[in-house]
Amino acid sequence: MAALDKLTSLHWDPVAMRVRVIDQTELPHRLQWQTLDTLQSFCHAINSMQVRGAPLIGITAAFGLALELARDASDENLEAASAVLLQTRPTAVNLRWALRQVSRAVVGLAPGERAAAALARAIALRQQDIEHCGRIGEHGLQLLRGLPRDGALNIMTHCNAGWLATIEWGTALAPVYQAQQAGLPVHVWVSETRPRNQGASLTAWELQRAGVPCTLVADNSCGQLLRSGAVDCVLVGSDRTAANGDVCNKVGTYLKALAAHASGVPFYVALPASTVDWSCAHGDLIPIEERCGDELLTISGVDSELRQGTLRLAPAGCRAANPAFDITPASLVSALVTEQGVYEASERGLADLRRQIDSSGPM
Ligand code: MRU
Repeated sequence: MAALDKLTSLHWDPVAMRVRVIDQTELPHRLQWQTLDTLQSFCHAINSMQVRGAPLIGITAAFGLALELARDASDENLEAASAVLLQTRPTAVNLRWALRQVSRAVVGLAPGERAAAALARAIALRQQDIEHCGRIGEHGLQLLRGLPRDGALNIMTHCNAGWLATIEWGTALAPVYQAQQAGLPVHVWVSETRPRNQGASLTAWELQRAGVPCTLVADNSCGQLLRSGAVDCVLVGSDRTAANGDVCNKVGTYLKALAAHASGVPFYVALPASTVDWSCAHGDLIPIEERCGDELLTISGVDSELRQGTLRLAPAGCRAANPAFDITPASLVSALVTEQGVYEASERGLADLRRQIDSSGPM
């Protein structure tokens, strides 16, 4: 993925002591970079979804906490800044995981040593994400190679679980990029992902840029596509996976899993182990983010002169509910593709993954 190596979602600038991220709210129309150097700017970037996607949310927060410790490394500030960052988005467990990683890196250190240790951990988490997503791609590619196909392999995805949602590669899109590199012909059905349209605005942009053949489809067309035999497998990411294998991901994932199950199409979920919430026994315990109804009542985009605009879709005064994620029961998930390998989506499969992580030692 030579061209994409130059464009990653988050850069750390050690000289200026700041982070630069792609402002994903401007895509696909403008590639705009955003500088993050204060706790407030990090919180705003996550909360407003300039950065989004479970792994990227976590790494952004890790840098936010580390830079805040460079300003004030007291115990009180460590606790307060962690709490503020943790509140930016409720569902992706990588946020909590990454903040804990940074906190653990500074435990027992004198205040004067904390910022450097915290920054070193944030930088290591960023690097680890690249390596883990690369390995998810390798394991996923083995799965893809084993699927029967007639010409190009047709993969359906939802939301954006590509490099924009991580640092490089992505989770669900990592096997796609590696298939392309390996010469395995692939075609991706990109579901638009209403109401924020991450499929249309982010996944389609990523895939087009990488030269991966893809077709945008309305969310509501996916059931029929799955029934018709046009899809060889579904491959999505996850924001939090429970210890029994239930998967929380972008709203609309569950409907695809149901349709895939009914049509005999494998449904794979790709995730780094940092997305597993070991303390969560099953999916119904996962907090589902409820977002502003305006996302549903309006639609935003650009006109032919690239002027940004928002249009109202629903009658004035219409009530809207906007849960951003849903739960796919483990029974509908064919396999979990992680950096450690491919696991059954079940309590037993997750326990195997846990054992594997424990035997390979701490981060
Ligand atoms: O609301 P978002 O855009 O942050 O949601 C992102 C998703 O649901 C992704 O599928 C998930 O984070 C997996 S990212 C590799």
